[in-house]
Order: sequence, then structure tokens, then C-alpha cells
Amino acid sequence: MTEKKPRVGFTTGVFDLMHIGHLNLLERCRERCDYLIVAICDDEYLRKYKHREPVFPEDDRMRLIGALKCVDQVVQINTAETEDKMLCVERFHFDVLFAGDDWEGSERFRITAEQFAPLGIDIVFLPYTKEISTTQIRRRIKAENL
Ligand code: CTP
Repeated sequence: MTEKKPRVGFTTGVFDLMHIGHLNLLERCRERCDYLIVAICDDEYLRKYKHREPVFPEDDRMRLIGALKCVDQVVQINTAETEDKMLCVERFHFDVLFAGDDWEGSERFRITAEQFAPLGIDIVFLPYTKEISTTQIRRRIKAENL
């Protein structure tokens, strides 16, 4: 009897100032696959798209996320790979892409769904944890002088 092939899951994000929303998402991802690869967006992507410096640099963000027991492998991706998930498929050969449902309906994921359909790669959106984000934490620290 042949063994069932493990289902490889993949998700991406900046994961700066790691918080409970990140952990909720990653635990939910891991419940839905056998091997979870988390791709950390590099500092250059953060500067370009969020127009700010990272609080924790890319190597630290990778170590923090990689130390979680729900994460099997952590990798770093550049801006091109963050924007074009086909480049990630070529590098990491996953079966399912996970994202927070704040991305549902976005142009980037609409294109990705079209590209993935013929390859049989699933896209699964998972509930975004309300009332916490890196941006909110940064704002609170400033506003409340924490
Ligand atoms: N995420 C989530 N719930 C949150 C915050 C993030 O599920 N409260 C998910 C996002 O949907 C994404 C991943 O965690 O799939 C990484 O998100 P990231 O953008 O790095 O974190 P944010 O806290 O949203 O950062 P920012 O405020 O800079 O946008």
C-alpha cells in the first residue's frame, strides 16, 4: 500500500512585532495541512509597501516565527515573490496557500486563484483576528506612551 502524500501548506506575511493574530493564523494553517511553510517578506518589501522600517529585521522575524511549534519551515521571500505567488510555487511546491481573510477579494489573490486553478493548488482564507495588528500595536505604544 502506498503512503498518502503529505499536504504541504504555505503562507506569507511580514509578521513584524509578532502578536496573537499571527499565532492564531499560523495555528489554524497548521490544523489544515501536514507540513507548514511560512514565508517571511523581506525588509525591502516592508519599506516599499508599508513605507516604514521594520521594528524587527527580517532575520529576527524569521527566527521568531520559525521557533513556533505550528511552523515546520520558515523561508524568506523578496518583493517579486510576495507579489507573484507563482514564483513561490516554483520554489516551494505547496498544495495549499493560506491567507488571512483580510486578503479575500483582493486583486492579488484574484489573479493568484486564476493561476492556481489549473495546477490544482487550493487557496484557503482563514479568519483575521480582530482588534490587533502590528500597525495598531505601534500606534498604541506611541499614543499611550507605553
Ligand atoms: N493576520 C491575522 N490577524 C491579524 C493580523 C494579521 O490573521 N490580526 C494575518 C494576515 O492576514 C496575514 C498574516 O497574519 O496573513 C501576516 O500579517 P501581517 O501583515 O504581517 O500582520 P499585521 O499585523 O496585519 O501587520 P500590519 O498592521 O503592518 O498590516
